Amino acid sequence: MPFVAIEGIDGSGKSTVISHLAGILPRVYATREPSGGPIGRLIKEWALRGGSSDPHVDALLFAADRIEHYRREVKPKLMEGFLVVTERYVESSIAYQGAAGVPIDFIKYINSLVPKPDLTVILDVDPQIAVERISRRGGAEKFEHAAFLRRVREIYLRRAAEEGHPVVDASRPPEAVAREVAEIIKTRLQIG
Ligand code: TMP
Repeated sequence: MPFVAIEGIDGSGKSTVISHLAGILPRVYATREPSGGPIGRLIKEWALRGGSSDPHVDALLFAADRIEHYRREVKPKLMEGFLVVTERYVESSIAYQGAAGVPIDFIKYINSLVPKPDLTVILDVDPQIAVERISRRGGAEKFEHAAFLRRVREIYLRRAAEEGHPVVDASRPPEAVAREVAEIIKTRLQIG
């Protein structure tokens, strides 16, 4: 079965959209990065709480978590016949660690041990709207500031144009966004 990544800046509504997708498409297995594994926990408990001040260290941790997540969770679920939908994958590292100053070729290299998804969809929203959504759910984390998210968004959109990733307007209600994403998945991957 196919492997799909949903990407977008913090506050673009990825989690809600993915939970709706599970009700629209058959046999969806939803997962996310940072993962629930040991490296993902280190990222959440240490790196994202200001522990790491070097973006290269962040990039290496996210890549290590991704390799571990893919082998432990994604690949087995694909083999069991699920449509695996991950919230965040390699494009998150390119956009966020790229925006923090890590060379994109380095990020690509350390992520070259995991396969590319069959499809990456970018949920696009104005960083100002995203930051308002984030403050409503309480407290901004390390990367959740408008100026930084503007740089992240620019990289996502540049990469989408280069790589042909579909971009979906995520300023709309999540149900409408999820319906459009489901249509894109069905059309591009010929499922459902
Ligand atoms: P989350 O809020 O989607 O759980 O992700 C936590 C933060 O980690 C979010 O601000 C984006 C950031 N992140 C990166 O900077 N690089 C990555 O490769 C991934 C997966 C997440």
